[in-house]
Amino acid sequence: MKFFIDTANLAQIQEAHDLGILDGVTTNPSLMAKEGISGQDNVMKHYKTICEIVGDGDVSAEVIATDYEGMVREGEALAELHPNIVVKIPMIKEGVKALKYFSDKGIRTNCTLVFSAGQALIAAKAGASYVSPFIGRLDDISTDGIDLIEQIRLIYDNYGYDTEILAASVRHPMHIIKCAEIGADVMTGPLSAIIALMKHPLTDNGLAQFLADHAKAAK
Ligand code: G3P
Repeated sequence: MKFFIDTANLAQIQEAHDLGILDGVTTNPSLMAKEGISGQDNVMKHYKTICEIVGDGDVSAEVIATDYEGMVREGEALAELHPNIVVKIPMIKEGVKALKYFSDKGIRTNCTLVFSAGQALIAAKAGASYVSPFIGRLDDISTDGIDLIEQIRLIYDNYGYDTEILAASVRHPMHIIKCAEIGADVMTGPLSAIIALMKHPLTDNGLAQFLADHAKAAK
């Protein structure tokens, strides 16, 4: 399972990268705004810096345009920035056309804002490299986001679609574990959810005991 971090914060990306288990980064316009990144030049510079920190992992960069021509124009500029950029396209009609365009050109895409199996099926048919079902936001409206991952896994396996399931809007470690059980290809979430996976009180107690015994024996 690939681990992506869902942020545009450079310090967090660096921290996740230093752990040695980071496979990529996803961003969106809200996450970029949260870091105070605005203006075309700054946005492009920021994406490039993220790519440099991540090394050989994928970095999703989202288009702002909602018309086909605009998405193609922005996506091509983003893809030219760095070979690891994946163009993030919203699941709307014009976006589907853009997904197909980029897929035909060999430019990788991440179809975002996916909330149903039907949307995921269309994204795969349009040749998206990744599909991003937002599981946390479904949970927020009392709909089980994990069920959607299961549905998409079944559909993609039925037909052998190559599109990778990128479980997005992950909020906590159980989301990651459930997605791993189902066979999501990738998860993206906050660094805190990844770090929480490592935690267990028996590990902490066991280590404290080992160190105390070692210190006693050394006296
Ligand atoms: O990856 C999608 C993500 O950015 C949305 O997450 O937590 O805002 O629902 P969230």
